[in-house]
Amino acid sequence: MATLADNTSVETAPERGGLRGAYTRFARFLRRQMPTGLFARSLIIIITPIVVLQAVVAFVFMERHWEMVTRRLSAAVVSDVAALVDVLGTYPQDSDYAELQRIALEDMRLVVRVLPPEPLPAPAPKPFIALLDLVLSEELRTRVGLPFWVDTVSRPNAVEIRIRLPEHVFQVFVSRGQTYASNSHIFILWMVGTSLVLLAIAIAFLRNQIRPILKIAAAAEDFGKGRPVRPFKIRGAREVRQAGHAFGAMRSRIERQIEQRTTMLAGVSHDLRTVLTRFRLQLALLEESNDVEALRRDVDDMNRMLEGYLAFARGDAGESTARIDVAAMLETVAQENALDGAPVPVTFAGERFALLRPLGFKRCLTNLVVNARRHAKSRVTVSADHSAGCLTIHVDDDGPGIPPEERDAVFRPFYRLDEARNLDQSGTGLGLAIARDVVRVHGGEIRLDDSPLGGLRVTVTIPG
Ligand SMILES: Nc1ncnc2c1ncn2[C@@H]1O[C@H](COP(=O)(O)OP(=O)(O)OP(=O)(O)O)[C@@H](O)[C@H]1O
Ligand SMILES: [Mg+2]
Repeated sequence: MATLADNTSVETAPERGGLRGAYTRFARFLRRQMPTGLFARSLIIIITPIVVLQAVVAFVFMERHWEMVTRRLSAAVVSDVAALVDVLGTYPQDSDYAELQRIALEDMRLVVRVLPPEPLPAPAPKPFIALLDLVLSEELRTRVGLPFWVDTVSRPNAVEIRIRLPEHVFQVFVSRGQTYASNSHIFILWMVGTSLVLLAIAIAFLRNQIRPILKIAAAAEDFGKGRPVRPFKIRGAREVRQAGHAFGAMRSRIERQIEQRTTMLAGVSHDLRTVLTRFRLQLALLEESNDVEALRRDVDDMNRMLEGYLAFARGDAGESTARIDVAAMLETVAQENALDGAPVPVTFAGERFALLRPLGFKRCLTNLVVNARRHAKSRVTVSADHSAGCLTIHVDDDGPGIPPEERDAVFRPFYRLDEARNLDQSGTGLGLAIARDVVRVHGGEIRLDDSPLGGLRVTVTIPG
């Protein structure tokens, strides 16, 4: 369902314009960027809202809080400074300003000095975040109303203010914490900290939820490829447990069916073979003649066909996998099907061993090589490569090949081109059907192409 919907949206996308088209493109972009794993996706689903929420809250709160607190603090400092300036103007009897300095330090925590009336220095450099500068300047302008100079940058812990009075320059040092909301980072630390804790909890829970799903997937894959299924405990959420139970039930049903079919086939083949053997014995007792010879060939043909049908019907589904030496198996098949006495050349690259069903896989290779040998003019080659988790086998010949429009049909059971081509080739038309069955049971693919030798190239690719 999902893929169908996805495909439709992708196909019709170019026709749409405007907002809808943009949305489709965005959705496609998002789909491509999203991780494919369930674990990563669930984490994103949990984390994105947390991060967005925290970012918005932090931004709104911080901005307002920070600005307001800075304004209040600056206003308080500036009113202290304004009071001191007033005192300085109104009570000139305090000639060395000792009282003024004492009151400033003890009651207002300000360090003040009265300097000779020299001009104010050039404006100090502005800091990157200019809020404090702006707020302080604004307050000084409205509350004091005299020429002033502010430096919030030069000292790490203090802010310096100078105010030009008619007869003096009044210098004030304020500690930074008095003017400025500087402890907001604690708030951020708390937020990041709690987010990390949340994340850790989410990871722990999600892992436990996803592990059983992965186990079911692994078991289904093993079962499909005929490997022994590792036993697993069914746990997790209700739906996951349901899927696990359903898989177990399906598995035992399939196993039961395979067993029934195999027993039945064994019975049928045994009965038919007995009859054929009796035939052959009776033929041996008859006098040699052309008719008898022809009959004997027919019986042999019947025997061979019977084997073919049985092999196809059995499908080797019940066979279990084993680690086999693929290179050696290819050599054996090539030798058994030597072309006019000369063995078929085999090249092999990469890891020799692979997990395969030995009988089924050998039958598949034999079918392909027999086909190639039957149709080749003079050359058949087999080349294989097993690397990067993929086993690829090419069987090439220099025969007539198969036209592209027939390449699907030849895989159908009992479908033969030889009859149409008027070739006198005895065959049942099951060879490629069996080969494809075997390859699919291994989770692989089989493909027909033009061969560099001029005939047909059959390519088998199997993961693992
Ligand atoms: N290498 C090949 N070159 C040309 N034609 C081929 C080749 N392999 C298969 N074919 C064609 O594909 C058809 C189907 O092949 P398949 O192996 O399924 O059946 P078969 O060879 O006729 O019978 P069987 O393999 O059961 O004895 C054949 O009839 C044959 O014409
Ligand atoms: Mg064949």
